[in-house]
Amino acid sequence: MSSRRPLVAGNWKMHKTGPEAREFCAALAGLVGEDPAVDVAVCPPYTALEASADALAGAPIAVYAQNVHENEKGAHTGDISAAMILATGADGALVGHSERRAAGDTDAQIAIRVRNAIDAGLLVVLCCGESLETRQAGETEAWVTRQIRSALEHVQPADIARLVIAYEPIWAIGTGETASPAQAQEACAIVRRVATEKVDGEVLRVLYGGSVSPANAAELMSQHDVDGALVGGASLDPESFAAIVAVAG
Ligand code: PGA
Repeated sequence: MSSRRPLVAGNWKMHKTGPEAREFCAALAGLVGEDPAVDVAVCPPYTALEASADALAGAPIAVYAQNVHENEKGAHTGDISAAMILATGADGALVGHSERRAAGDTDAQIAIRVRNAIDAGLLVVLCCGESLETRQAGETEAWVTRQIRSALEHVQPADIARLVIAYEPIWAIGTGETASPAQAQEACAIVRRVATEKVDGEVLRVLYGGSVSPANAAELMSQHDVDGALVGGASLDPESFAAIVAVAG
């Protein structure tokens, strides 16, 4: 066990309306209680950020957006800025999720998003992870190293207060096929080692994501370099998400 406080974040993806988010957050706040042993966050879609932040006001549960544009304003139809996210009452944003990368977010954009979102006052959960082909080719370490070096290009040591990294192998996302605890440990250790080129690796929290469930969460998070989880499918139900929070502490 390290001294890093674990973080369990639920990535809802394209699920839940504002009213549904409100109901979910009220239930989750009741289950998590006033003093959880770990940091907890939900990542609703943009349209449910304000309802979620409102429903969680006073609760020890943060609200992160699922992405953030690198510019402050401008002709970017369909995108939203860090200031817009903060104005909803949310605290952070995912950046570089593999589903956003697949939809066209580039390495260069991701590096600027990390920089600008931190400057704007958001906590950033930077996501990285390899495809099945990359893993089978034995290139996971090189892939993750390149992603982290690129995304942290503009990061400074002081940014550690607003930076978390999630290792999410694409082959484990939404597939029910989880990385083994040993695979998660090995990759999270690589992430930490590479990130140490820019920030204090002893302080940096590195999460594992990819088919995390109440059944496998404890073993994954007991690994030395796994400081919590980014949870997709299993975060959509308050009981199952709260069960993962409970075993993280
Ligand atoms: P999953 O998603 O838990 O449904 O695999 C994780 C993620 O994409 O963040």
